[in-house]
Amino acid sequence: MATTESALRGHVTNNAKQPDLSGNRRPIDDEIDVARCEVIGELPAGLRGRFVRNGPNPMFEPIGRYSLLDGDGMLHSVTFADDGTVSYRNRWIRSRGLLAEVAHGAAIYPGLGDVLHFPDRSLTGSAGPVKNPANTHIIEHGGRWLALWEGGLPTEVTPDLDTVGEWNFDGRMRGPMTAHPRLDPRTGEMLVFGYSLFAPYLTYSVIDPNGAMAHHVAIDLPAPVMMHDMIMTEHYAVFLDSPYVFDLANIGKGPMVRWMPENGCRIGVLPRRGDASDLRWFDIDPGHVQHFWSGWENGDRIEFSGCRYPAPDFGIDNTTPLDERSAKDITARPARYWVDLAAGTAGWEETDDIDGDFNRINPAYDGLRTRYQYMSGFTRTDRHLGDFDAIVRYDLDKDERSVWSAGANGHVGESVFAADPNGQAEDDGWLLNTVYFDDRDSTDLVVLDARDIESGPIATVRLPRRLPFGFHVNWFPFDDAGVSA
Ligand SMILES: [Fe+2]
Repeated sequence: MATTESALRGHVTNNAKQPDLSGNRRPIDDEIDVARCEVIGELPAGLRGRFVRNGPNPMFEPIGRYSLLDGDGMLHSVTFADDGTVSYRNRWIRSRGLLAEVAHGAAIYPGLGDVLHFPDRSLTGSAGPVKNPANTHIIEHGGRWLALWEGGLPTEVTPDLDTVGEWNFDGRMRGPMTAHPRLDPRTGEMLVFGYSLFAPYLTYSVIDPNGAMAHHVAIDLPAPVMMHDMIMTEHYAVFLDSPYVFDLANIGKGPMVRWMPENGCRIGVLPRRGDASDLRWFDIDPGHVQHFWSGWENGDRIEFSGCRYPAPDFGIDNTTPLDERSAKDITARPARYWVDLAAGTAGWEETDDIDGDFNRINPAYDGLRTRYQYMSGFTRTDRHLGDFDAIVRYDLDKDERSVWSAGANGHVGESVFAADPNGQAEDDGWLLNTVYFDDRDSTDLVVLDARDIESGPIATVRLPRRLPFGFHVNWFPFDDAGVSA
């Protein structure tokens, strides 16, 4: 694991006591490599590869209000080597905006709540008026590792976490791209969308298995909305146009993105290589979904599921006092959706009474009916939005839920499914999750048997440092996507 970049160092004091920089949301200030981590229990022999997590970790004291969505992307990798050792590395993503700030020695860019207050061009140079922090997800497609942020282009990184730079698909991607592409394990294609504050408000693209753009469609929406994820079935790309609307006129008066149920809510169904004229819309009760599990076709029906917010407010709000939280604790619950293409109808129903998010499946089943679904959940009532305390597993065939709680001091991140290379069944594998414990101010990477999470971790890696709250994770087996021990 060679790296050629010189180390960066952070400078955040949070004297303003901003909540999104406090507790386990406070950033770490350095980049380290640790060759051997302590392991408790026995790691499964088939668990060989690299776990990578992305998340916000601002390097400089923010200008004014800070939201988690603003922070500079930092990647943490935990490598499970063939000899059974486990190593750790973390690196900031060297975005153009962050490098401009490094050159300046201080923050230049305001947070998203003040995003139209563009910084002085003499400070940003060629880095542009808005920073792309690449802080949300990490995927591999077409031989490229891509760190994702939905407000801009993907940022290519190496499996060793060095930054290559923004990737625009040979100039074919001219707008933002979602942090949640859908990777088709059968065709090798990647389905993506992007939303924009300016028309066209939605674009949809198919990237071929080699990473080249093969299809691109501009889609008219009535208003610019925050859309975070999509659904892929064998023949269709499916979108939820929920009325979580960008309201730029509201900046300085309240949230920049507002829930406007009076606008209505629609499911859009598009043949995967269809044009905008092929898109069919189906009205549905207003509700917002950040993350879907999977979608599939069942005769004339399209079925999918995710965690539904009745009225989201993620708090991109510059009017909140700096020392107060701006996001509201409106949480999401598992819900099942359907579209009947023959009847022209659609509907939804809540499927559980536990709150949660960070929906994941065995990725080999994306686009097919999944039997097993995983999420991070709330079994406690003393937690804020995003601060999960449990891992939840659903068996749809048995209509069963099982839960592993991290306890009163445990704070659960997103789970990722690592398939057992010798496995056959959908749930033959492990769930990996980084859990922060506030009583000892440290983070464990727990390994659970995906078939039996209630028994708790079968192995635990004591990470050499606290991992701040983050967003999405992925698992990269060896010999796949250029990863080697
Ligand atoms: Fe996400």
